[in-house]
Amino acid sequence: MYYGAMVKLRALEMEDLDLILKHWNNLELRQFLATAWPMSKNAERKWLERATTMDPWRDGGIVLAVEDKKTNEFLGTVSFFDISKQHQKAEFGIAIHNPENYGKGYGTDTTRVMLWAAFHILGLNTVFLITLESNKRAQRAYEKAGFKHAGVLRQGAYMLGKFHDFVIMDVTKKDFFEMYPPGTEVGQQ
Ligand SMILES: CC(C)(COP(=O)(O)OP(=O)(O)OC[C@H]1O[C@@H](n2cnc3c(N)ncnc32)[C@H](O)[C@@H]1OP(=O)(O)O)[C@@H](O)C(=O)NCCC(=O)NCCS
Repeated sequence: MYYGAMVKLRALEMEDLDLILKHWNNLELRQFLATAWPMSKNAERKWLERATTMDPWRDGGIVLAVEDKKTNEFLGTVSFFDISKQHQKAEFGIAIHNPENYGKGYGTDTTRVMLWAAFHILGLNTVFLITLESNKRAQRAYEKAGFKHAGVLRQGAYMLGKFHDFVIMDVTKKDFFEMYPPGTEVGQQ
């Protein structure tokens, strides 16, 4: 549906359940996310039932599947949540699931395409995110896609035995339109 240089973002389907479970219970991935305890197939199915029927305006969120656009390999998910109609803003989240796929450019490309959809399709004005201060790979990918450093939430997360600061990053429609003015696309089929 939306294409980057490397990825395709498409609707998440119930058939993605097993693909999600393949890597979801891997601490190498989950240490960077809010919840790092094992998820059962049943719990994941219930999450997927909600995620596959979300409407950004009715439910304030949307989750899309990320695929390699050449091979159709399922790479992970990307989302907006807490979408506010009043403030025209949303929080961004992403997870590339298989650690073997980290550092190949998928995260940067996916983030850029999702921001394009935020500003060119959903009509948002700002998008923000929080990420662990120690997650330098994520911050670099976000920066390359257009996010800027906005601040720090001190000791906002407890993970692997210690507290971590959260870095806040954001991007405005104005910033993004300087990179991709109306009428441009981020990638092609
Ligand atoms: C974070 C994530 C989306 C980034 O996607 P990715 O495909 O791995 O990242 P990319 O390859 O697009 O870009 C990574 C960049 O960080 C750089 N990088 C990697 N490790 C780094 C480190 N320790 N310090 C600084 N930069 C680092 C890479 O060199 C690359 O930058 P470059 O292209 O300028 O060389 C992905 O790794 C992921 O989903 N990780 C697990 C879950 C997670 O962290 N989600 C985000 C929670 S906020």
